[in-house]
Amino acid sequence: MMTTRSRPISDEVKATPEAYGGEGAGGAGLPFTALIWGAGVGYNGARPLLLQGDLMLVLRSNPASPFVRKVRIVAALLDLDGRIELSNADTSDQADSLRVQNPLGKIPALILENGEVLYDSAVIVEYLDGLAGGGRVIPADPARRFRSLTRQALGDGICEAAVLLRYEQLWREPAQRSEKWMAYQRDKIDRALAASEKDPPEELDDVGTVALACALGYLDLRFGGDWRGRRPKLVEWLEVFSEATPSFEATRLKG
Ligand code: BEZ
Repeated sequence: MMTTRSRPISDEVKATPEAYGGEGAGGAGLPFTALIWGAGVGYNGARPLLLQGDLMLVLRSNPASPFVRKVRIVAALLDLDGRIELSNADTSDQADSLRVQNPLGKIPALILENGEVLYDSAVIVEYLDGLAGGGRVIPADPARRFRSLTRQALGDGICEAAVLLRYEQLWREPAQRSEKWMAYQRDKIDRALAASEKDPPEELDDVGTVALACALGYLDLRFGGDWRGRRPKLVEWLEVFSEATPSFEATRLKG
């Protein structure tokens, strides 16, 4: 299980292998040296990134973020969730160290054991998939791979439009809101849901399906599940996904 902490990230997350005795992969004294990135799909020639010792990756998070949820579910599918520590970030707080870690001030951001920071969620998912050997949640087969990545883009796009709508409602007085702009965002969501209803995913454990499930979960959280009435196949698909993926319920959005 992941742990949560709310204090800001400090130097301890910038720990380097040297700080842990200077041993690299296979070094003596490390209880666990598991994952060497380099041989996985698409990483030929990449320098190895190690997840070693008892070091944790730190995920700057928010319990209401569908993008964080996607990363957490992927981590669980890859059995890496035990190596990830959640650290809540306040994206509206100028003093939050998130803005140093990711100049865009956006979550999720993943702080690696050497202090490097990865963002956005699609990049983090690719990193985790590589750590787990590659070709796991981002399939190796080109046809499946690009179908999955495209579905991830669709799910993420639903979330981006929905978050913009949410912020419009949260941060602007009714008189300031642009109905035209909100309708533009709603139409994106509607078209993406219509396309998914026509072609619900068959897979249950790749990044595209995880992204779609997280998008539907976010619409449930912030818009009262109003998509459900017109999308019976997606409702059914989400139930099947949820049953097959315990981490979906375990990461239920809150906020
Ligand atoms: C939300 O509160 O709706 C939210 C929080 C963080 C990221 C995205 C959405």
